[in-house]
Amino acid sequence: MVVKRPIGIIGAMESEVEALLSNLQGTRVEEEAGLAFHRGTLEGVQCVIAECGPGKVNAAVCAQIMLLKYKPRLVINVGVAGGVGAQVHVGDLVVAAACVQYDFDTTAMGDPLGTLFIRHHGRDSEDILLLPCCEKAAGVLLEEARSIYGGAHFGVVCTGDAFVADREKGRFLEEKFQAQAVEMEGGAIAQACYMNGVRCAVLRAISDGANDDSPMDFPTFTKMAAEKTTKLLRAALPRL
Ligand code: ADE
Repeated sequence: MVVKRPIGIIGAMESEVEALLSNLQGTRVEEEAGLAFHRGTLEGVQCVIAECGPGKVNAAVCAQIMLLKYKPRLVINVGVAGGVGAQVHVGDLVVAAACVQYDFDTTAMGDPLGTLFIRHHGRDSEDILLLPCCEKAAGVLLEEARSIYGGAHFGVVCTGDAFVADREKGRFLEEKFQAQAVEMEGGAIAQACYMNGVRCAVLRAISDGANDDSPMDFPTFTKMAAEKTTKLLRAALPRL
């Protein structure tokens, strides 16, 4: 019998993973670096689920532990995000085609903003701006989003260590990177996956408009947004 490697799921906050955890069957929990890794089956699919805490370092540490310890075949980052651009509204879903770490800044050295330096032992290192997400997984998430909610946006998700509550910053991210959403973990998880040769996906529900209203909208809409990603993910899992 071929045993399939699990699917890893990472959310930053309790609200982003709690509905998934409450449906996980046969749960076993292991702790590493103060983080809990919940193993079990969801919709009949072997999964490992973790809450990483906010920000790029928390997300990267969690992803790397998950990658080494559980060898997931795909890591999915779920959660909420600030919407960027006139087309993206609170309650919408965004599936990442790629992620950009927009706050990685070596522009003073002549590099374009967001360009990362990735080391590859034994061959040339690499400069990379757009961290790729798995096309097949994104396609499945988009199809399920179409059938459950009538659709989802597909494009660049920008990641940085800041909660963006500034219309100008949102405009900048849209113009510079064609961003559709801004959050604080997706690009870090995508980088960890890229460096380990593992597929990743980023699924975000829009909780706020990354503007002056965001500090108020974020807590109000987070629960609704998390419920949307949970429903979609549960429908998509058996096909991933
Ligand atoms: N997550 C949800 N909303 C966000 C925002 N406006 N900025 C960064 N991360 C977010």
